[in-house]
Amino acid sequence: MSRIYLDNAATSWPKPESVYRAVDQMQRTVGVAASRGGYSSSMQATQVVRQTRQRVAEFIGAKSAADLAFTSSCTDALSTAIFGMLNPGDHAIATVVDHNSVIRPLMHLRDTGVITLTVVDCNEQGLVAAKDIADAILDNTALVTITHASNVLGTIQPVEAIGEICRTRGVAFLLDAAQTLGHLPIDVRQIGCQFLAAPGHKGLYGPLGTGVLYVCPGVAERLQPLRFGGSGSERIDQGQPTTMPAMLESGSQNVPAIAGLGAGVEFTTSRQGADAIRHADELAAKALSGISRIGGVRVYGPAPGDQRIPVIAFSIKGYDSATVAGILDSSFQVQTRSGFHCAPLLHQRIGTDVDGLTRISVGAFNTVGDVTTAVDAIREMAGGY
Ligand SMILES: Cc1ncc(COP(=O)(O)O)c(C=O)c1O
Repeated sequence: MSRIYLDNAATSWPKPESVYRAVDQMQRTVGVAASRGGYSSSMQATQVVRQTRQRVAEFIGAKSAADLAFTSSCTDALSTAIFGMLNPGDHAIATVVDHNSVIRPLMHLRDTGVITLTVVDCNEQGLVAAKDIADAILDNTALVTITHASNVLGTIQPVEAIGEICRTRGVAFLLDAAQTLGHLPIDVRQIGCQFLAAPGHKGLYGPLGTGVLYVCPGVAERLQPLRFGGSGSERIDQGQPTTMPAMLESGSQNVPAIAGLGAGVEFTTSRQGADAIRHADELAAKALSGISRIGGVRVYGPAPGDQRIPVIAFSIKGYDSATVAGILDSSFQVQTRSGFHCAPLLHQRIGTDVDGLTRISVGAFNTVGDVTTAVDAIREMAGGY
């Protein structure tokens, strides 16, 4: 079936050939659990996990590969940090741009009386002011969390300024890099975050079922694991490991997907990957300029010319977002996302909480033809303006 996939913010597709090959090879020729045996195949699996961990750690500027735990998704990484870090009586800060994977765990902790929560506002373009975060910090604030770039509007947040505020005030900072890792340069030590949560399956071009959590050295001692169990380390005592990454990696790992993630990071950091990512930005700019010119269409997010990641959220007068995405798919084979994009607070803030928004998100393997077809289809739906 021919299709034009423009939902790369959900998960990137297609993946580089090297990713498919790495997953397939790991399944067929190694096929065993990592860190579970002294025989050669298990050691090979362990080596692949080690290599991928090293690649991701270097990519984000972590001091040591041991600061990085593999998770099953960005959601899994976020929950691990949020539930692991917050204790009864703590105060946490999130923002209206945040994804449900941040908001829901925090609201659960608030609603069960464990923490208090402040949700900081943003402007119409989805930008949060670092000063508003500073103003929200209380004596008992234990965690500040923000989405690096909005998955709805594409707005990029001032994370270095927020990191500096958190450092000065002695508050842990959790960065949700779901939409940025692989796309924007990220150095965890420059940003000064204590945690970075990211998927492996979006901007790193790894398979679904992958994610990572970076934990700054010294913070792991304050972290309570979310999951307990076997980690493969040969210990006679029964307690959960207390050091990274084993303390957060109980259970057999998704080795084939981690092998694929390693290939994805290799792609992302290669010259070819860098060109492809730049290409995605150029295509998104082309789509943005085309869609913005169509009468009856409203584009949301950063002002023209302001920096954004390659996502474009729009509405067509007279249609709700699900109808737009449905017609784009059924009549034009253009696959986009509709609705609230797991960010209900942001939709309430910008007044799109009834009809939602349709979102185009461009990836490294889209073509000029894909974008032209999508823009033409939107024009036709909007009435040929
Ligand atoms: C900003 C943001 N945070 C978190 C997530 C959750 O990521 P995952 O699908 O890997 O759980 C997403 C997914 O779209 C996202 O856009």
